Amino acid sequence: MTPADYIKQVPKAELHLHIEGSFEPELMFQIAQRNKIAIPYESIEELKKAYQFGNLQDFLDIYYAGANVLIHEEDFYDLTMAYFQHCAEENVVHTEIMFDPQTHTKRGIAFSTVINGIQKARVEAESKWGISSLLIMSYLRHLSEEDAFDTLAQSLPYKHLIKAVGLDSSEKGNPPSKFQKVFDASVKAGYIPVAHAGEEGPADYIWEALDLLQVARIDHGNNCLSDISLVDRLVNEKMALTVCPLSNTALRNVDEIKNHPLKKMLDLGLKATVNSDDPAYFGGYLTQNYLDCIEALDLTLEEVKQLVRNSFEYSFLPEGRKQELIAQL
Ligand code: ADE
Ligand code: ZN
Repeated sequence: MTPADYIKQVPKAELHLHIEGSFEPELMFQIAQRNKIAIPYESIEELKKAYQFGNLQDFLDIYYAGANVLIHEEDFYDLTMAYFQHCAEENVVHTEIMFDPQTHTKRGIAFSTVINGIQKARVEAESKWGISSLLIMSYLRHLSEEDAFDTLAQSLPYKHLIKAVGLDSSEKGNPPSKFQKVFDASVKAGYIPVAHAGEEGPADYIWEALDLLQVARIDHGNNCLSDISLVDRLVNEKMALTVCPLSNTALRNVDEIKNHPLKKMLDLGLKATVNSDDPAYFGGYLTQNYLDCIEALDLTLEEVKQLVRNSFEYSFLPEGRKQELIAQL
């Protein structure tokens, strides 16, 4: 079997997906109309033309603007169901979904509205397609630690629905150290810590995520490659990296997919996984991320199998379901 045929049909997991980043322009226009909110673009085509990013911040500005049309529980439900529909079509059998409560609470939307809408879709996806999922509540790092503490407090009534906390948004100038106290408190509350690090920021931020936030996974982590002793540590600790190839090229962190370091990461013994990050903005869902890497990097069937195995191995699934899914590969 070719690696491309294999990846299209095999059951797989996604570990790095922002639900707000799965907001397709068509659904955005539909919800905007329903909520009578004006979008500063004449048409879906015009909006899509704006998806040209020079860096992470260019993207974030458009991503937060797009999220402004999400008002009601039903909107968060529709957004999440649309993502699960893609999972069902691609045989993604488990997904770990990040959501950014502050993107919504800052606009006066209640935490409960956001999480209840997402939760309703999770339950439906599990019963309709057997897709398991869990939630990673991500703190926006361009905001203050105090703001993150507020978010932590708001999450506590819904603790049973949230597995992990993450750290996303503008990386440069907002190091993990800024959030050490709120991560300590989040772990005490029972959440698993993860963080975006080394996407645009330096290898130092990955050290901080490991040492100060005690993360269980690094989101992206590409810039570890500039620091050989960091690579050694990540390999020795079997620390997974949730790599997002199409995101890296869309945000100009990697110039072309043929220069993506995914294969090099595997060669070094790093526990890389493939993920889509913000598929509505970066040109492809999970399978497309694999297919583009297979073609551009000439990944072997063994390498693709390793990546798929990693997606389950480094998930936060209970051991029983994890082993059950790995056994199906
Ligand atoms: N929020 C959504 N996508 C992100 C990314 N790639 N990096 C940081 N924050 C994000
Ligand atoms: Zn991300």
